[in-house]
Formats: sequence, structure tokens, C-alpha cells
Amino acid sequence: MPGHKALVVGATGMIGGLAAHMLVRAGVSVALAGRDAQLLAERSKLLGDRPYRTFDAYDLDGCAALAPWAATALGGLDTTVVAIGVAGFGLAEEVTDTAAEHLMTVNALAPMAVVRGALPVLEPAGAVVVVTGRIVDRPMRGTADYTAAKTALAAWLDVVRRERRGRGVSVVHVRMPHLDGGFADRAVTGGPPPMPPGLDPARAVEEYVIGPIAEGRRRGP
Ligand SMILES: NC(=O)c1ccc[n+]([C@@H]2O[C@H](COP(=O)([O-])OP(=O)(O)OC[C@H]3O[C@@H](n4cnc5c(N)ncnc54)[C@H](OP(=O)(O)O)[C@@H]3O)[C@@H](O)[C@H]2O)c1
Repeated sequence: MPGHKALVVGATGMIGGLAAHMLVRAGVSVALAGRDAQLLAERSKLLGDRPYRTFDAYDLDGCAALAPWAATALGGLDTTVVAIGVAGFGLAEEVTDTAAEHLMTVNALAPMAVVRGALPVLEPAGAVVVVTGRIVDRPMRGTADYTAAKTALAAWLDVVRRERRGRGVSVVHVRMPHLDGGFADRAVTGGPPPMPPGLDPARAVEEYVIGPIAEGRRRGP
């Protein structure tokens, strides 16, 4: 994909980090966004001094500003990958309002704001690639707030995809399966139930995130 320009939001995470690495390896010009300033700087350096910018999900204006910033930094933008999120567990009546707000902000409102900012600046043949999870189709007990947030994002993306039909910029919604890598153990509230082993993260990112970008590139506008 040489010549392609991409922003990875959540480049400090496992999925976003892998996606950024694979895109750079494929010859893509990549800009990185993440919350952890030190890790982001390290990843940028490791990938050949890529442009990077920090943000926090609670700053929705800052989220919406990421793609315009990347378009300026890279001289255009073809793809925005959104791979931010945080898990949360517990029976509905046990989850605090603060934790519920956190889950909704990081998993739904912030990704929506990133996409909202990206749509006007992406090339017409470009794409937003947004990671949710299989949970949107198969909710589990003890994940009401996490599932609600991911499902809100999924429904929002579905409408945006319809709105963009015939107007350029495709919307790729990745319902990522459970991966090895400890995402559930980094939950903002509660702890995960016993889970079967997950898929290999690198193979899954290659298939579910990089695959659709490369396919869109082959297909053209
Ligand atoms: N891993 C899985 O098994 C799995 C399965 C299905 C779906 N998913 C989804 O895939 C996405 C990424 O998962 P992952 O495995 O890569 O998780 P991860 O390694 O924990 O990465 C999470 C990312 O979200 C960012 N983030 C968290 N809270 C934030 C906040 N308040 N403001 C800004 N950024 C914030 C983190 O930034 P910092 O590190 O900079 O704080 C990091 O870049 C999530 O949406 C998750 O729901 C994951």
C-alpha cells in the first residue's frame, strides 16, 4: 500500500499497535494517536519517527481533531483506524454511574467523535475502520454497560455507513473476536469471568483490520 496515508487511534494499545506496525511494514505513511504519552513516543520512534498526538477519550473535541491533525501532518488521509476501548464487568446493579459513564465515553462517544472528525477530511475512496467486538452480537451476563456502549457504537456506525453510501468514505466495522493479550484483565471495573483462550492477536489484526484496508485499496473508489 505505498502512498497510502493512515491514522491509527489507540496506537498505544495491542490492536492499534499491531495495526500501526503492519501498516508501516506495508509501506503506508502512518500517524499515531494514543493516551499514554511516553508509550506513544516510544512506538513512534520504533516505527521510524512517525507523527504522533496524545488525546483523552473524555476530551471529545480533542478526539474529533485527530483526523484533521493527521491529514495535515501526512499531507492527506486515506484511512482512520479506531481501536480504543476499555472493558468493564459486573452485574448491572453493581456498576457505579462513574464506571458506566467511563465505559460509554471510551467505548462509544470517543470513537464516534473521532469518526465525526474524520469523515470530512478523508479522501473519497478512503475508509474508517472501527473496532468493536463480537459481544455486540452475543452479549454476556455481567457486561451490560460494556455491551451497551459497544452496541451503541455499532448501531451508530451502521447508520453512518448508510449515510455515506454513494458519497465516498467506506465504514468498516470490525467485530473483533476475543484475543489473547489481557484486554479483559485491564477492566475499569470488576473482573472477567473465566474465558477460553483467545485468538492470536497478530493473525486477527492482519485478517480483520489490515485485510479490509488492503481490499478497499485494491477495489479503488
Ligand atoms: N483484545 C481483545 O480481546 C478484544 C476483543 C474484542 C474487541 N476488542 C476491542 O478492541 C479495542 C482495542 O483493544 P486492545 O486489545 O488493543 O486493548 P488495549 O491494549 O487495552 O488498548 C486499549 C486502547 O484504548 C486506549 N484508551 C483506553 N482508555 C482511554 C482513554 N480514556 N482515552 C484515550 N484512549 C484510551 C488505550 O490508550 P492508552 O494505552 O494510551 O491508555 C489503548 O490505546 C477495544 O475497543 C476493545 O473493546 C478487543
